Amino acid sequence: MQRPRIVIVLGSTTPGGRLATLAAEAQAAATEAGGEVERCDLSTAGLPVMCTEDPAQADFPAVAELRRQAAEADGFILLTPEYHGNMSGALKNWFDYLYLELAGKFAGVIATTGGGGGDMSITAVKNCFAWCHGFTLPFNAVGKPADFDGDALSSEKLRDRVHRIGHDVVRYAPLIRKSFDAARAAGDARSSGVAGLHAGDQ
Ligand SMILES: Cc1cc2nc3c(=O)[nH]c(=O)nc-3n(C[C@H](O)[C@H](O)[C@H](O)COP(=O)(O)O)c2cc1C
Repeated sequence: MQRPRIVIVLGSTTPGGRLATLAAEAQAAATEAGGEVERCDLSTAGLPVMCTEDPAQADFPAVAELRRQAAEADGFILLTPEYHGNMSGALKNWFDYLYLELAGKFAGVIATTGGGGGDMSITAVKNCFAWCHGFTLPFNAVGKPADFDGDALSSEKLRDRVHRIGHDVVRYAPLIRKSFDAARAAGDARSSGVAGLHAGDQ
């Protein structure tokens, strides 16, 4: 049987740091849960700012790769640093290249902050995923400076939360995708729910 395919998106333009520490914890948990995990590190992806007036962007290797990854994924673990009470521009730019690839998919969300509660960036990511007709886990994780010693994770409570997210994304993503795909295949009748709105999608 195909293992659940999970993409971990590191939504920072700064390589490493506390975000990368939490991404590694989430990756370890998702792998332990049986997921086949790929990473999308936006600090090295070389992704241009999305421009609807530039059709050549679709052929950029970085753009084609992120769309392939997202299309094949069953689920996502999305990590963002909180910037000005929102998700990072890098993660929003990742979203802006995608829509259909996220419909009927499942995601867990993790944020790092400079001391804030993280609710706004978490909510921003969840809203954006929902607007792409994706489903998100009803609990999240936020890494604040007090949870770390330098970039090393020192909070066992946060480690526990991040690992639960990793396991849950692997658990629920294939179920959601299977149900959504079955409803989409049944056509655009009301009984197909939101998936029916995607009945004609490729
Ligand atoms: C442009 C910018 C805006 C920021 N806005 C916030 C904010 O609104 N709330 C907050 O708690 N931290 C804010 N920070 C701090 C970052 O969230 C924090 O440095 C980052 O999550 C640390 O992650 P890292 O160690 O992986 O780089 C901001 C940082 C930058 C660069």
